[in-house]
Amino acid sequence: MIIKGNFLYTPSIDEMVVKEQAYLLIENGKVKAFYDTLPEEYRQEKVIDYGEAIIIPAFNDVHIHAPQLINRGVGFDKELLPWLETYTFPVEAKYKDVAFAEKAYKLFLNRLWAVGTMRFSAFATLHKDATWRFMELAEQSGLSGYIGKVNMDRNLPDILIEDTEQSLADTEELIIRSREELKEFSYILTPRFVPATTEKLMQGLGDLGEKYNLPVQSHLSENRSEIAWVKELHPSIEDYTRVYEAYGLMRSNRTIMAHAIWLSDKEKDFLKEKGVMLAHCAQSNADLSSGVMPLRKNLERGLRCCIASDIAGSHTPDMNRHVAASIELSKVNWLSHPEEKALQLPEALYLATKQSGSFFGKVGSFEEGYDFDALVIETDEMDGLLPRTPFEKLEQYIYDGNDRNILARYCKGKFVAKPFA
Ligand code: GUN
Ligand code: FE
Repeated sequence: MIIKGNFLYTPSIDEMVVKEQAYLLIENGKVKAFYDTLPEEYRQEKVIDYGEAIIIPAFNDVHIHAPQLINRGVGFDKELLPWLETYTFPVEAKYKDVAFAEKAYKLFLNRLWAVGTMRFSAFATLHKDATWRFMELAEQSGLSGYIGKVNMDRNLPDILIEDTEQSLADTEELIIRSREELKEFSYILTPRFVPATTEKLMQGLGDLGEKYNLPVQSHLSENRSEIAWVKELHPSIEDYTRVYEAYGLMRSNRTIMAHAIWLSDKEKDFLKEKGVMLAHCAQSNADLSSGVMPLRKNLERGLRCCIASDIAGSHTPDMNRHVAASIELSKVNWLSHPEEKALQLPEALYLATKQSGSFFGKVGSFEEGYDFDALVIETDEMDGLLPRTPFEKLEQYIYDGNDRNILARYCKGKFVAKPFA
């Protein structure tokens, strides 16, 4: 396959490549080579010409609560813990009903497709049957990634609490079934967060991680009341990070921890050594008044930070808006912390494409050997009155674009059509 257009991508955090009116050769779903003029041997091949549109790597969202999408924008008068109790848990409880869950998960997959998120790692709910239905639907969607049933067995309302043994048994059943029946989606261990998981449950999940060599996703150090609660629950463990480690849930290079706002230097050294992916969720951290992750400092320290949505702690699944939110929050942070240089747009794009993509393999760039996951974007419909460079089109899309600007989506070299009618 050969695609022509204006390509932009970020091989590293401080480099953006722009290839104007270039030809890209894609072989077996992977990026092969760019050409300014098409070599003789390919002259007979059909070229898909996207004209003046820009083509960027598709987004990867490594922290998203699929069942919460239908609750986006609701309840930001509260901070994390009362927000969970008041607004989030009652909605997640509805997924006990598989028919309800099926409708909501189809909406979710359609929406992620629309906004150009081709890979994701999602929390489902605690319900085994609804989570399995979600996994089956995701497998048909043309997207790719990880899904986990949430594990939660303490400090919860009756409508949403699990028996520890049953939680572990349900998890193992989903692990085995997804290995047997799915190709595009695989299982990720998903303890909700330390306050909602007993030691026995965490240890059981850590053991499953070892047994099946699984990735893990959870929440870390998001809100100050949450952190104080973790200290109360585990007084003999040094810090929040080390609670997960104590139960085998900090798996090297295979763990995503969302938020990670209020970490000590010792926790950061540990997370760096383990290669834990820290999902920075700027919009959520503002919406739930959680705090501001010192992103620049963390990046300079060598921590593996990326940008993610955390819907519905945030109000939109559109990753372009999370790129913008990360830049905006870092500028506000810079005003009070002048040593923490604000994030530039190419850096933020890198964090939402190649950096987050590294959790899925060679994903998120147009370098040779990378999976061709891409979005074709045209912003002229916004006004079209001024000629715009490809980079300016990217800027306008990041700040004011939406799904209507995305003309085509590719995942693993395949054109992806809208998943569900
Ligand atoms: N911590 C535990 N559960 C949640 C959740 O659903 N959303 C967010 N943002 N933080 C959490
Ligand atoms: Fe979250």
